[in-house]
Amino acid sequence: MKKGVVVILVLCIQTAIAQTPKLLDGKGVYTQYCLPCHQEDGTGVPNLNPPLRKSDWVNGDKNRLIKVILEGLEEEIEVNGESYNRVMAAHNFLTDKQVADVLTYIRSNFENTSDAIKEEEVKSLRKKKP
Ligand code: HEC
Repeated sequence: MKKGVVVILVLCIQTAIAQTPKLLDGKGVYTQYCLPCHQEDGTGVPNLNPPLRKSDWVNGDKNRLIKVILEGLEEEIEVNGESYNRVMAAHNFLTDKQVADVLTYIRSNFENTSDAIKEEEVKSLRKKKP
């Protein structure tokens, strides 16, 4: 009888592990959530979605960049001399680590060479939100 209980427990645990969604790394998050708009090479879509390649937003102020992901962006902006006035939804469903990882990914790819963003930096900005 005891043996049967153990077998059932093991089966339950195995199923739970198999169903846990794999946490995506920076590139994985990018591919799943950002690539459709900003494109595989970060060049965006002219007049529609701004480029991440050589963008001041990506390589400049970290807090401003983190807020784009946590809060979205809906204002007239200029990227590489082109203006955009469209809407990007907040991606605040991502974990602090995923936000840090995806931003670190875009800051070190697409010809960008900026330093990493840390999970703690995302965490402190998210907390400040009312
Ligand atoms: C549905 C399309 C869409 C998705 C998905 C999307 N973005 Fe955006 N993104 C935009 C648009 C449109 C803007 C410009 C918003 C504006 O004009 O105010 C923008 C702006 C930005 C900017 C600031 C401007 C620039 O080009 O540097 C960054 C950085 C950025 N997005 C990163 C990301 C990241 C990282 C993801 C994935 C987590 C993502 N975006 C997902 C459409 C999208």
